[in-house]
Amino acid sequence: MKILALVGTNANFSYNRILLQFMKKHFQQMADIEIYEISKLPAFGVDVPLSEQTEVWKLKQKVKAADGVVFSTPEYDHGIPAALKSATEWLSYHTEVLKHKPVMVVGVSYGRQASARSQVQMRQILISPDCDANLLPGNEVLIGGASRVFSKDGRLINAEMRDNLEKCFTHFIEYIQVFKNITKEEAEMPIKRPTISDAYINFPTGRLTLKEVQQIFSTIPFEIDLVDSSDRFAWYSDKPNREHVRSVASLNEPVTECHPPKAVPIVMQIINSFRDGKKDVVTRPLWMNGHRSLIQYYALRDVDGHYLGTIEFTGSVEYILNLFENGGWDQNPDATTGASKHDDAPADAAAPVAGASTGASESSADDDTASPAEAAGTPAADSEDGDDATTGASESGSVDADDETADASTGASEN
Ligand SMILES: Cc1cc2nc3c(=O)[nH]c(=O)nc-3n(C[C@H](O)[C@H](O)[C@H](O)COP(=O)(O)O)c2cc1C
Repeated sequence: MKILALVGTNANFSYNRILLQFMKKHFQQMADIEIYEISKLPAFGVDVPLSEQTEVWKLKQKVKAADGVVFSTPEYDHGIPAALKSATEWLSYHTEVLKHKPVMVVGVSYGRQASARSQVQMRQILISPDCDANLLPGNEVLIGGASRVFSKDGRLINAEMRDNLEKCFTHFIEYIQVFKNITKEEAEMPIKRPTISDAYINFPTGRLTLKEVQQIFSTIPFEIDLVDSSDRFAWYSDKPNREHVRSVASLNEPVTECHPPKAVPIVMQIINSFRDGKKDVVTRPLWMNGHRSLIQYYALRDVDGHYLGTIEFTGSVEYILNLFENGGWDQNPDATTGASKHDDAPADAAAPVAGASTGASESSADDDTASPAEAAGTPAADSEDGDDATTGASESGSVDADDETADASTGASEN
């Protein structure tokens, strides 16, 4: 159970932060609580340029990935602090990340009213049409007299308040479970099974069961993402250790929503060049997560050439490049002719990579054919200066969701 907990203030010292830190430790058997500092966010404004919304985008990704969100609010002048209102505006303006998201409100203040008034306000905000969160009803966690109820090492030492917190948080976890089981499709997603496992698809070249289709995508060493013709993120291949971490919560979102803001212009430039028929392939060699990766965007078209969407292939090519750099192709016979490049090399010199049953080399029979990019008349991108040769875009312009390392779809380079 993943819970995101927002510290409802931008103050350096905060009892609400102490409460969340206590909850993270105290409830570690029940949930994985990640504490988020709203001080990282810019002040909300409808005119804030997209390029300054990277942190907002990161927060939205975290909310999407969380099973539930806890808002811990202080009380300022009988209301919530401006910084918390601003954060909530970011989470409701032109986004649906809070829609139907289970949320819980807690709060600490100095006064005897124990943030009761600000919590009422927070609850009102969370059920407004643009937030539309699934608010845990009742279950008020009212912690007043902040300076007296926590120990020096941050434990909630008021037994009555602690008992109430335990009861309310347990109810929140139960509340989340109810929503988690709401649709069969959602329930089955994490089990990694196609919905109709016995069905199969007839292709002109053979038939595949849905299970086989799913496992093929999980097995091939490239990951694939699909943005459909209406520019929505429609599908991604499910495989371990993806270069780009995707979330089912992002499915069906506009592509502009699921990329870091700085990356949106270049992503749209690629998609529009495919839609307009100006390009079919864009190739981007990049350093990602410490290794050399290749990203290729392809225009997906039907047999009549109508645009169906954009697919993004991403994968580490470290293994292939190492194989090449270590002479993997030097000694192997050409699978099509049986001829070795080195006349004096014995035929079984190819043994390390020769197919045991066929004797054929693992190297493709099409070694000499052009790469898809070249075939499409697209020059390969120059990996040295980081510019994408096909788009002319610099790779230094944007950042990855979590760690500022390269994200091919964002155009950001690690170095
Ligand atoms: C601008 C301002 C207004 C405040 N108004 C209230 C209030 O209306 N009721 C209250 O109980 N405490 C009020 N307080 C005191 C807060 O409860 C106290 O600062 C508390 O520690 C804030 O939570 P935090 O420690 O998480 O920042 C106010 C504090 C500030 C700075």
